[in-house]
Amino acid sequence: MGPIGVFDSGYGGLTVLADIRASLPQYDYLYLGDNARAPYGTRSFDVVYDYTLEAVQELFDRGCSLVILACNTASAKALRTIQQNDLPQIAPNKRVLGVIRPSAEVLGSLTKSKHVGILATEGTVKSNSYVLELEKFSPEVTIHQQSCPMWVPIIENNRHDSEAGKLFIQEDVKSLLEKDPAIDTILLGCTHYPLVKSYLESILPNHISVISQGKIVAESLSDYLIRHPEMEMECSKNGSLQFLTSENTHVFNEKASVFYNGPVDAVHIKW
Ligand code: DGL
Repeated sequence: MGPIGVFDSGYGGLTVLADIRASLPQYDYLYLGDNARAPYGTRSFDVVYDYTLEAVQELFDRGCSLVILACNTASAKALRTIQQNDLPQIAPNKRVLGVIRPSAEVLGSLTKSKHVGILATEGTVKSNSYVLELEKFSPEVTIHQQSCPMWVPIIENNRHDSEAGKLFIQEDVKSLLEKDPAIDTILLGCTHYPLVKSYLESILPNHISVISQGKIVAESLSDYLIRHPEMEMECSKNGSLQFLTSENTHVFNEKASVFYNGPVDAVHIKW
């Protein structure tokens, strides 16, 4: 038995981890942030895949049987290849899950107008993963995407409350709504964006809902563990939480506590 691994390129996955842990507190968790090589959002397919596979292997080596890619970019660019090509060879009894499919599964039920918008990194938008996944579950829903390349650096530098930061955010939201004024549901398809959710709600008309993924992913994981008792039995249950980062731990701990909303004391890993 071992902890549930939660991987992100950096800090953003901590928003997902917080929701997972709130709904499934009994399990042990091992969070890995590849902060030294983040952001992933602007990197090529091959690079995101290589880095993600390396991180998954690291979490497997540390005893995880189940790993959640709590990063949209990694889920978009690496998950399918890891599930289909790598797992059967390197760890046939272990599992890796992402954040895009669970979000796409519920999006159709959240929109009344049947028009949804996705805000995400350039990598996630270009991969078209949300469009492809949503087509499977809710083909009647029209989806438009907007990449927001400045949001991750703005949020990481704590500038999202500044006038300049707000202007970037407003501009991308405006571009999304211009693509489809019938949008009534906007999914935050990047793990950093929950930090600007309340600002988005304050600038959007009331009939548009802003959805973050944390609770959706937590519910989907809970359901997965019920449906897969063989995997659930592999997950240890002492309620513990450990953090790993490829960055300097002082830098990580300070910023991570903002995303996680609680104290963080990480261990450094060298690739
Ligand atoms: N965690 C990434 C995501 O959800 C955002 C940060 C990055 O670009 O590395 O897409």
